[in-house]
Amino acid sequence: MDEKGLTSPMRILITAGSTREPIDPVRFLSNRSTGKMGYALAEAALVAGDEVILISGPVTLKAPEGVRLVSVETAQQMYDAVAREIANCDAAIFCAAVADYRPEVILPKKLKKSGDAMQLTLVRTPDILGSARGVFGFRGVLVGFAAETDDLEQNALDKLHRKGCDLLVANDVSRSDIGFGSDENEVRLFFSKGGHRTIAQASKDAIAAELLQEIHKLLQERLT
Ligand code: CTP
Repeated sequence: MDEKGLTSPMRILITAGSTREPIDPVRFLSNRSTGKMGYALAEAALVAGDEVILISGPVTLKAPEGVRLVSVETAQQMYDAVAREIANCDAAIFCAAVADYRPEVILPKKLKKSGDAMQLTLVRTPDILGSARGVFGFRGVLVGFAAETDDLEQNALDKLHRKGCDLLVANDVSRSDIGFGSDENEVRLFFSKGGHRTIAQASKDAIAAELLQEIHKLLQERLT
């Protein structure tokens, strides 16, 4: 390990941004994620000398030079890209805010308004992080994110275990000064080996650098 707590370079997969689930040729369902946290992690990993595969939903950010960018739009496309890329990675960080539901039918023509109300039937998208261990057979360091508005600790611990993560990074999205769209974040880390810690409010770049150190440490622990 070097003086920054980083081990030798690793190959790291990062999902980032939101997904878009089309309704018709001009409309889609999405969320407020801008991709800042995932792109900051990609940059921090490059600085640490890691090889980075960045699987990103539509964002306005420019991918850091040197990453292998795989651009996707829907949750299904993100799932397919992760399935193709995850096998030889040492660590995978699932930072994307993936839509949990998509319209059951994508209309081939623009939906015209009629009446005062309308209904849209939504169906579940695949849980990409939840497929990493069982479906993709991934054995590397697995990191999930959780955006919570309440019961943060309980929800984070549930997700940590349910999705087979080594580390779950939780943030409180009910706060307007951190989280979605903000340049700053404050996160709580929950480890499957036990224990938790907080990375106090700081820029997403600073949080990303510290998170990456934790992930390198987890990888080092596996190798020794
Ligand atoms: N995630 C994913 N694929 C999905 C949904 C989520 O890979 N279809 C990942 C996210 O990238 C994140 C983690 O799972 O790392 C948590 O996402 P979240 O939607 O909060 O988890 P859920 O288990 O769907 O919980 P909730 O009941 O809060 O919706």
